[in-house]
Amino acid sequence: MTAEPRTQLLAADAAGITAAARCLAAGGLAAFPTETVYGLGADAGNGEAVARLYAAKGRPAFNPLIAPVADLAAARRVGIFNDDAERLAAAFWPGPLTLVLPKQPDCGVSDLALAGLDSVAIRVPAHPVAQALLKGFGGPVVAPSANRSGHVSPTSAAHVTGDLRGRIDLVLDGGPCMVGVESTIVSCLGAAPALLRPGGLPREAIEQVLGRPLALAAVPEADAPIAPGMTSSHYAPKADLRLNAGAPRAGEALLAFGAAPTHAGATLNLSPEGDLVEAAANLFSHLRALDASGARHIAVMTIPHEGLGEAINDRLARAAAPKP
Ligand code: TXA
Ligand code: MG
Repeated sequence: MTAEPRTQLLAADAAGITAAARCLAAGGLAAFPTETVYGLGADAGNGEAVARLYAAKGRPAFNPLIAPVADLAAARRVGIFNDDAERLAAAFWPGPLTLVLPKQPDCGVSDLALAGLDSVAIRVPAHPVAQALLKGFGGPVVAPSANRSGHVSPTSAAHVTGDLRGRIDLVLDGGPCMVGVESTIVSCLGAAPALLRPGGLPREAIEQVLGRPLALAAVPEADAPIAPGMTSSHYAPKADLRLNAGAPRAGEALLAFGAAPTHAGATLNLSPEGDLVEAAANLFSHLRALDASGARHIAVMTIPHEGLGEAINDRLARAAAPKP
């Protein structure tokens, strides 16, 4: 038996970023902040490193990974852009948008990381630490969210170590993530771009740039998913959730939004002002905190289904789904 790796927690300064780039080059696993959620990076071309990444997350190996890259030039070496992809990249990169594109023949991402698909999910994160790490490493990286499979995504370094301590080599601590929900995923494989996952970039902004509505993605089948991470209970906390709750009941914790009713149980407010951007940034940390309070039932107030509300409601619906 090999010893478990010690997980180093490093400040996201120049020395920490250099150490993380070296770690990736040596086939290690390094978690780093992006503006959406923390990612768990591995050298995309190193099949063994990718295999260790799946093992560390406890992720089913059929689930393909996102390849973050530093800029559009690097993205072009990985994926093949059509006109819609060009327009979206020009408008929203760097930022919380992932594009699914046909892969370049020599894209540098191992087949294991692509789960054998001939498409690849690419993202240019805006976070300065992610940018510096990707530039410092120099080659393609793969980075799913830095949580155990099935847990909510991490929006702080402490969330990452709570889930993955002893299973990965290092964590760069860059403070809390500003967006707080994962990137919006748009497929540019078919005739019309399709929304595969609502996320940190609102659908409305994308449709404005495209000049037409996003196509609806085919509903992923459990055994042949389009975005295989989108299984129904993927974001499950331990407590069960009651959505669109009017008044909280006795014995429930309350996840509030806007003006909250007075409640004797544990209460956290996603945004007392009713701001969806603030609510997205708080979503996963508040879910974790209510879970950690020992609450077995969480009542969640209604979140408006517009802008970032679409992504928030998507994650809440998954968190509320029956656990497998
Ligand atoms: O904000 C984010 O996107 C974060 C940060 C770290 O970049 N990453 C993230 O990755 O959320 P992950 O692995 O937790 O979710 C990636 C999603 C999964 O649902 C996966 O199935 C889907 O992207 N995906 C990856 N490649 C795909 C492909 N070729 N076609 C369709 N879906 C794909
Ligand atoms: Mg994830």
